[in-house]
Amino acid sequence: MISRPAYDIDSWRRRIPLLASCIPMNNCSQAPQTDATRAAAERYLDSWNRSGMDWDAWMAEVALAKRAFAKLIGAAPSDVAVFGSVSAATSAVASALDFDGQRRRIVVSGMEFPGVAHVWLAQGRRGAQLCQVAMHEDQPNDYDSLIDERTALVSASHGWYVNGFVQDVARIAARARAAGALSFVDAYQTLGAVPVNVRDLGVDFLAAGTLKFLMGVSGISFLYVRPEIVELLQPTVTGWFGRSAPFAFDAQTLDWSPNASRFDGGTPPVVNAYIARAGMEIIDDVNPVSIRAWHEVLARHLIDGGRARGLTLHGTDNVRQKTATTAFVVPDSHAVETAMRARGVLPSARGQVIRLAPHFYNTLDDVDCALDTLADVIRAR
Ligand SMILES: Cc1ncc(COP(=O)(O)O)c(C=O)c1O
Repeated sequence: MISRPAYDIDSWRRRIPLLASCIPMNNCSQAPQTDATRAAAERYLDSWNRSGMDWDAWMAEVALAKRAFAKLIGAAPSDVAVFGSVSAATSAVASALDFDGQRRRIVVSGMEFPGVAHVWLAQGRRGAQLCQVAMHEDQPNDYDSLIDERTALVSASHGWYVNGFVQDVARIAARARAAGALSFVDAYQTLGAVPVNVRDLGVDFLAAGTLKFLMGVSGISFLYVRPEIVELLQPTVTGWFGRSAPFAFDAQTLDWSPNASRFDGGTPPVVNAYIARAGMEIIDDVNPVSIRAWHEVLARHLIDGGRARGLTLHGTDNVRQKTATTAFVVPDSHAVETAMRARGVLPSARGQVIRLAPHFYNTLDDVDCALDTLADVIRAR
């Protein structure tokens, strides 16, 4: 394991104003603002103020954001559609599937983020049958026995939002493909934290937003669609940007775009695209492989330090099987979060756990301070 990051952590820290007043350890929820993301938002505001409307430049920004996302996941920009949320992207995927034939099953892990699981549940009205994979908080889920010739789609969250457990989605996607089913991966908790290449993973769909480890903002998400299948799909959740010629303004013809932009809907989230691209470019500059190496060090320090302070770990202690997000079981997680915030540490409460999710700019001292604060807060309750 390395002893320091491969990049200049101090110069990156200088670019995050929030570090002057507190320790953000909630990157699994919302990453802090940087000079670059702020400048990107200001570029949009300046453009709007200067020209009233700079449509071509704004559309070019959205295309650049798609390009940045594509680069991060090893895809082509034409393989990427843009949405306002992962839930919306999932709904569009669901709307492109039929559930009235032999293949009407959706195999879903218990590790789905609720917004994704809800979309699959809602397909029940359209004839879909949901098969829930039994869930273990720290072991691979057992998809194999549930995937067969009745399966339309397998949905797998890459990194579990509760404790950062990383599923082997390449294996799950291969199993789905072998059974003639499609695979959908929610990579919201892994992009920016774990290097991802969609071609290596072999997935059919991959969705993620940008406000967590991609250092971005809410209100924008991206969907990768494997180019080999895209022309077979016609989402009924659609809009004029899904057309091959949106600016023909032809209301009589449903001319499907030949690539993933057939999944685009209405006017894209322009200001969010400015900020999202700036965030993704930071991750690209720092380098996902170097980030992952440092995350493993931080996660090890969190797990060992948590144990030394008597905290109860939720999930695996194998840092190769998780993101840097480390969860500890606490009584009344929201009260614990509030108390920690008052002491200058930003954690993230979810159900019965407090998540400590450092990122590339966090130090081992940050981790120690966060753990001391968590242990003190619990002791004082
Ligand atoms: C794994 C995961 N998927 C999806 C979401 C939310 O998706 P959205 O709000 O964009 O629908 C989150 C967190 O907000 C998440 O952690």
